[in-house]
Amino acid sequence: MGRTTVLVTGGAGFIGSNFVRFLRTHRPDYRVVVLDKLTYAGRRENLADIPEGEYFRFVRGDIADRPLVDALFAEERPDFVVNFAAETHVDRSILEAGEFIRTDIWGTWVLLEVVRHRGTGRFLQVSTDEVYGEILEGSASEGDPLAPRSPYAASKAGGDLMALAYHETFGVPVLITRGANTFGPYQYPEKFIPLFITNAIDNEPLPLYGDGRQVRDWVYVLDHCAAIDLVLHEGKVGQVYNVGAGNERQNIEVARLILRLLGKPESLIRPVADRPAHDRRYSLDTSRLRALGWAPRYRFEEALAETVRWYRTNEGWWRPIKQGEFAEFYRRNYGHRLG
Ligand code: NAD
Ligand code: DAU
Repeated sequence: MGRTTVLVTGGAGFIGSNFVRFLRTHRPDYRVVVLDKLTYAGRRENLADIPEGEYFRFVRGDIADRPLVDALFAEERPDFVVNFAAETHVDRSILEAGEFIRTDIWGTWVLLEVVRHRGTGRFLQVSTDEVYGEILEGSASEGDPLAPRSPYAASKAGGDLMALAYHETFGVPVLITRGANTFGPYQYPEKFIPLFITNAIDNEPLPLYGDGRQVRDWVYVLDHCAAIDLVLHEGKVGQVYNVGAGNERQNIEVARLILRLLGKPESLIRPVADRPAHDRRYSLDTSRLRALGWAPRYRFEEALAETVRWYRTNEGWWRPIKQGEFAEFYRRNYGHRLG
């Protein structure tokens, strides 16, 4: 039997790069092929510690580029495909949604088409709890109707529905994970936790949307990676699996925790105009995933402290990011809010 090959699309981003490292550690005999467009959010250096060769290959390219994807499949014949590639930031989708539709829906469709014709063992679509919309009471289950409220969430819902349709119509071996808010090393500093950590380090205001009482259900990136790995190997084809650790926290609580960990004053918190259509609460029923044998290994407060430590000791990673394209985005998204 030949070696198992996994194609990881979007593997140079936050969760994708952590997942590639997870595979190198836990499945060292796998060949991992990363396909990543290296958008503003993707960084080759996120995988700098993994040498290219028999066990790892990096390809720069777009999942929406069908000839490229087709040629890569012909060459590598992946046993598994895990699709992390996406535009992922809600605020950017509010400023301009086109790239979200192109990558999260069209790009997913291109992958499904190539898989349909070339074949693969399993195709795992990495999705999000945002497709359920806001959950004011109780928790979302996998069979619940989708009710996305942002252009990002609507694009991810489109990708999910196309993947399920390709399973039903063409028998493509699709699995879907719907993950909760994820945090940890290598997360682009536009997202809430790394933005607040890096702003606080620099004594810059922490722009808290609205009343800050919105609830997110936080999961540490290594727990999220372990769940994806488990579903990829043990999940039932055609099924959706929610991934969440049950760490529901109000944003303002998380902001205060970050400031305490850094020894900074709460006066850095700056309430600003809310995000349009801001989902009030997310909450996931994860019994289906837990029945497969998954449980979170990291406690929220400890994982947050570890994340704060990582950003403190890796300023060389995030400082150049914050000076580049990010600075222009920051002006567009926060200029009028911060005055
Ligand atoms: P990220 O923005 O950090 O990384 C996205 C990666 O995809 C980048 O490396 C980027 O270069 C690449 N990419 C974008 N468009 C591409 C294209 N057309 N072709 C090839 N590569 C492309 O995202 P993330 O936070 O790591 O999220 C990864 C996946 O997990 C996404 O599908 C996202 O919807 C999902 N998700 C994220 C979270 C979270 O809290 N971060 C939670 C649940 C689900
Ligand atoms: O729930 C999963 C989703 O989590 C993923 O699918 C998305 O890719 C990921 O970006 C994330 O979406 P959110 O919109 O929940 O995450 P974000 O980090 O943008 O915001 C988290 C919360 O913090 C949310 O309630 C908005 C708030 N927030 C965010 C930013 C960036 C602020 O109050 N101020 C901010 O500046």
